Amino acid sequence: MNFHLFLLSSAFVAVSGQLDKVAKEAGLLYFGTAVDNPSLNNQNYLRIARDPAEFGSLTPANGQKWSNTQASQGRFTYGSGDAIANIARQTGQQLRCHTLVWYNQLPGWVSSVYSRDQMQQIITAHIQNVAGHYKGRCYAWDVVNEAMEDDGRYRNNPMYRAMGVDYITHSFKVAQQTDPAAKLYYNDFNIERCCNAKINATIAMIRTVKTAGAPVHGIGMQGHSRVGMSPSKREMKETMARFSELVDEVAFTEVDIRHTKLPIGAAEREQQGKDYMEVVGACLEMPKCVGITVWDFTDQYSWIPQQYPGEGEACLWDRNYNKKPAYHSIVGLLQSAASSGLRTSATPAPAAAVAVTAA
Ligand code: XIL
Repeated sequence: MNFHLFLLSSAFVAVSGQLDKVAKEAGLLYFGTAVDNPSLNNQNYLRIARDPAEFGSLTPANGQKWSNTQASQGRFTYGSGDAIANIARQTGQQLRCHTLVWYNQLPGWVSSVYSRDQMQQIITAHIQNVAGHYKGRCYAWDVVNEAMEDDGRYRNNPMYRAMGVDYITHSFKVAQQTDPAAKLYYNDFNIERCCNAKINATIAMIRTVKTAGAPVHGIGMQGHSRVGMSPSKREMKETMARFSELVDEVAFTEVDIRHTKLPIGAAEREQQGKDYMEVVGACLEMPKCVGITVWDFTDQYSWIPQQYPGEGEACLWDRNYNKKPAYHSIVGLLQSAASSGLRTSATPAPAAAVAVTAA
């Protein structure tokens, strides 16, 4: 694809077409968004979130996390996760389920467990219940989230402290026994720009747990980054090429690209569009990249201002539900990928693969 020509001709002008519709036409499985519970009473929000042409996949931003599903031991609550899963059921959108085993948003009763056997039983019960509750409804599960430190060490979280790396292997095994149809993912941040210590350690970790029998089908790159400092398409493709040697699929799972100084002007807005295009372009050009999920789509509900005070406006829609240049630039990119057949020519069509096998 002639990127330069594309930039001259159609970037930053309003284009018709919606994200998931053009993503599918371009050969991706979905374009998705995270949805959090506080936004569910906002009709402006819901009109977009529930539109399958815009988002083919929904991820509960918080509803399925441990603190929301098993805040006290043995008492499982699914109201928050179900509120989002039920939207997907009504609209026919896919669900990316998030997340089973994570050190954050983890109740105190879990982090105070030190014994290996107890921790193993607790993880087993948690996954059997939560993944069991959503069985058959999740296209993918982020089974283990953020297990590595930026410097490449294993994160010394309560699960690791009790069980070592076995907690990762065990979690994947139980997830597969519980929901055999779900694609099981390892998911993390700062594993986009090839090739830092964390990426190398993640690869080594995935090898270790697969050798020990963990069914890891996918690696999710969260994709949180900053305007003007986000990884290039080339860097992300290099990472995905390495991950592609280990797993069946890769995905961008939590993309948002925040401005580090506010307020911003037109130049920063355009730069954000270019940065988003690098992510989408990288996914399009890697055959194993199945889709892209943004970590919510409007600045009104983005987690960024709370997490990084003074930063923000990271999403594709502003807080008043106006589409930003970044939205139009990625729709344009997906459209031109669809019409040039970029991905269909790079990826052998499943039907052809079946025919060859049958012959
Ligand atoms: C964030 C949510 O968006 C916030 O509402 C919550 O307060 C904290 O977690 N990586 C992840 C996500 O895997 O689960 C996090 O979501 C963002 C970073």
